[in-house]
Amino acid sequence: MTMPLRFPPGFRWGTATAAYQIEGAAREDGRTPSIWDTFSRTPGRVRNGDTGDIAADHYHRTAEDIALLRRLGVTDYRFSIAWPRVQPTGRGPAVQKGLDFYRRLADGLREAGIRPVATLYHWDLPQELEDAGGWPQRETAYRFAEYAGLAAEALGDRVATWTTLNEPWCAAFLGYGSGVHAPGRTSDVAALRAAHHLNLAHGLAVGALRDALPSATAAEVSLTLNLQALRASSDDPRDRDAARRIDAVANRIFLDPVFHGRLPKDLVEDTAAVTDWSFVRDGDLATAAAPIDSLGINYYSPTEVAAADPGGADDSGEPSPWAGAERHVRFVPVAGPRTAMDWPVDADGLYELLVRLRDDLPGVPLLVTENGAAYDDYADPSGQVKDPERVAYLHAHLGAVHRALADGADVRGYFLWSLLDNFEWAYGYSKRFGIVHVDFATQRRTLKDSARWYADVIARGGLLT
Ligand code: NOJ
Repeated sequence: MTMPLRFPPGFRWGTATAAYQIEGAAREDGRTPSIWDTFSRTPGRVRNGDTGDIAADHYHRTAEDIALLRRLGVTDYRFSIAWPRVQPTGRGPAVQKGLDFYRRLADGLREAGIRPVATLYHWDLPQELEDAGGWPQRETAYRFAEYAGLAAEALGDRVATWTTLNEPWCAAFLGYGSGVHAPGRTSDVAALRAAHHLNLAHGLAVGALRDALPSATAAEVSLTLNLQALRASSDDPRDRDAARRIDAVANRIFLDPVFHGRLPKDLVEDTAAVTDWSFVRDGDLATAAAPIDSLGINYYSPTEVAAADPGGADDSGEPSPWAGAERHVRFVPVAGPRTAMDWPVDADGLYELLVRLRDDLPGVPLLVTENGAAYDDYADPSGQVKDPERVAYLHAHLGAVHRALADGADVRGYFLWSLLDNFEWAYGYSKRFGIVHVDFATQRRTLKDSARWYADVIARGGLLT
C-alpha cells in the first residue's frame, strides 16, 4: 500500500437507489399503478415475471436501511420519489401518506447526518398519464411540473438536492423506441416526442422547484443523464460520422436543449424522415434551458461505433432505441472483462466523459450519480458475500474520477449504484447491483465485501493504490 489517492475535502460520498426498484408496498397508502406495474405484469416483459410489488421491501424497512447507510458512512443518499405514491393519478392534490413516507425518510437521513438527494422521476409514470398519451404528449410535461411543485412544497425544507429526471434517454428511447422498458411502445416518432417533452418537463420542473422551495434552504437543482462515453472505432470520417450520429441522438438531444436552449441541427437533419419536429413550440427550448446547479452523470461502460458495413446495415426493422441512426452505425464490442450484465469493464470511459464535460460545460459542477456493477453474488455458508470483481470495478472507476479531478473536471461527488440488490427493470431480480446483498425470500440484508471496502474508502477520503 502506498499513498492514498485523496479526494477533495467536502467530496460527497453516496449510494443511489430508485423507488420502484426497492420500495415494494405497491398498493399501500394510496399508491396507484405506474407504467412499471403494468409492464411487469405483462407476460414476457420482465425476466421470470418479476414485479416490484415487494422488491427489497424498503418501504417497511426504512430505518434498517438508513442504519446501513450510517454504517457505510456516506455523506449523501440518492433515492427517488414515486410519483404514483405522491400524486396517484398524476393530477390534483398530493396524498398525505405518500408524502409522509418521504418526510420520514428525509428526516431519518438528516438525523443520521446524511444529505437527502431526491430524484423526482426515475421512470414510474402514473399509469393514468400513460393512458392519456404518456411522454409523447405535451400535457405530461405540465403534469410533471405540477407534481414537482407539490413535492417541493412538502419536502423542500429537508431535501438538499433535487434531481428532476433520471436518464431521460432511457425513459424516451427504451420506453417508446425499442420498447424494452415500460410502457413498451415501439415508435421512433413517439421516442423523439418523448425526449422533447422530457426536456420541457425538466425545464418546467426547475421553475416549479425554484418557486416552491423556501429561499432559505438554497437547495441544489440538478438533472441526471446517462451520457454515452462514445468512441469511434477509427479516425476514418465514416466512423467518426457514426459516432456523431449516436452522440446527437443519445447525448446532445438532452445537453443542447438543457444547457444551450437549442436542438442539435444534425439531429433534426438525421431524423427528418421520422419527424419534422413541429411538436417543438416557440419557447420550449428556452424553458428547457432554465439554469441548473449541477449535472448528474450515470456511467457503467463505454460505447464504440463504426460506420455500418456497406450492405450490412441494420435494416432488420427491429425496434431500436436510436431513431434510425442504427441504419448507419455498427456497434463494436469493447474489449475487457464483463459484468453479469455483459457490460464491459472500462473505467477510462468515465474519465473520457468527465473530461469532455469539463470542456463542453465549463462552470457546471458534475456529480457521478450512478456507477457500479452487477455480479452473481451469493452468501457463502459462513454468511459472507465475497465480491472482489465489484471491488475492482469500483476501485478502477473511482480512480478514473480522481484522474478527472486532477485534470480539472469539477466533480463534486460519487454515488455508488446501488445500496441494495434490487429490481433491475427488464432483468427483474436476476441481476444484483447492491453492495448490500438482499435475500429476497427473507429480506435479510448482508454487507458484501464491497460495502466494507466502500466504507473504508469513505472513512479514509480516498483510495489506496
Ligand atoms: C441506470 C438506472 O438509473 C438504474 O435504475 C439501473 O438499475 C442502473 N442503471 C443499472 O442498470
